[in-house]
Amino acid sequence: MSGISDSFQRPINYLRISLTDRCNLRCVYCMPPEGITLIPHSDILRYEEILSVVRVAVEMGVNKVRLSGGEPLVRAGVVDFIRMLSSFKDIDDLSLTTNGVLLKEKAAALRDAGLKRVNISLDSLRRQTFEEITRHDRLTDVLDGIKEAEMVGFSPIKINVVVMRGLNYDELLDFARLTIDGWNVRFIELMPIMNKGAKQPEFVSAKEMWETLSSLGTLQPCSPLAGNGPASYYQLPGARGTIGFITPVSDHFCFKCNRLRLTADGKLLPCLLSSEEVDLRSALRAGAPPEGIKQLILKAVAAKPEGHRVSQGVVSQKRPMTQVGG
Ligand code: 5AD
Ligand code: SF4
Repeated sequence: MSGISDSFQRPINYLRISLTDRCNLRCVYCMPPEGITLIPHSDILRYEEILSVVRVAVEMGVNKVRLSGGEPLVRAGVVDFIRMLSSFKDIDDLSLTTNGVLLKEKAAALRDAGLKRVNISLDSLRRQTFEEITRHDRLTDVLDGIKEAEMVGFSPIKINVVVMRGLNYDELLDFARLTIDGWNVRFIELMPIMNKGAKQPEFVSAKEMWETLSSLGTLQPCSPLAGNGPASYYQLPGARGTIGFITPVSDHFCFKCNRLRLTADGKLLPCLLSSEEVDLRSALRAGAPPEGIKQLILKAVAAKPEGHRVSQGVVSQKRPMTQVGG
């Protein structure tokens, strides 16, 4: 294994793969009620094509892979694909981000296929609010999915909560209390990235969340959970689980960015918010050899910007979240 760094000396060892732009929910901050224009099926990378990219990336030093969407579990064949990915011995962290709706039925198969970790997006613990945010009455399915994931042995399980004033901000303490019994909850600042027609709910800063949480006791900093992503972690007194903050808006973490993103239609994005992209699909379909794919990956790495400027209101992104995988 060699190992690659970008122009700002950041080692790049993490590939996030959006398996599909389809989703079985319609979160208000992500999509309008009727959904969005979908990528045509023929433009979506086939699993063998994704594997060709992963093979080269792993040779170049990538050892962390996360699957996301859209909703990755709606894509047919995902379990078999994970089994193939888990045969790469140099991938030591293979994980998946899901909305949890299909997790109850798939958790055991995913674990047997070699998946190590799951992150589950859950923005409300109240049935009505859950439905208001996701436009689907599926809270029970998600909660059952979380239980099943715990039962089959995924660990740690992280729960991602996008915090929005007027929707779920008043549940902050309820989510935080769940960490006492062992949940790991990460509060995410809402980013102003939406599909056309989606609503922009109201932003809450991590600082304000922190102040609200302090009514439960002093948050003690603790070491990061497996995965070592961009969150900072804390614990309530006596809690078994952790509270994390992901602050893409108020305090961006670009200085330690270690990732590249592969979109469902085969473009490599240097940054979540870049307008630049490197077209791997055309190369793959034109029969490019591994060396050709390697050169394109190096091109995307070289194009990584020093950081994004969401905090200054600069959002130059041309793709919706469903295509870049959150
Ligand atoms: N701001 C913050 N997080 C977002 N996600 C999707 N859209 C946004 C946004 N605009 C989150 C999802 C999920 C992850 C995949 O990305 O809620 O936790
Ligand atoms: Fe689906 Fe995730 Fe978008 Fe919600 S945020 S609609 S779960 S892709």
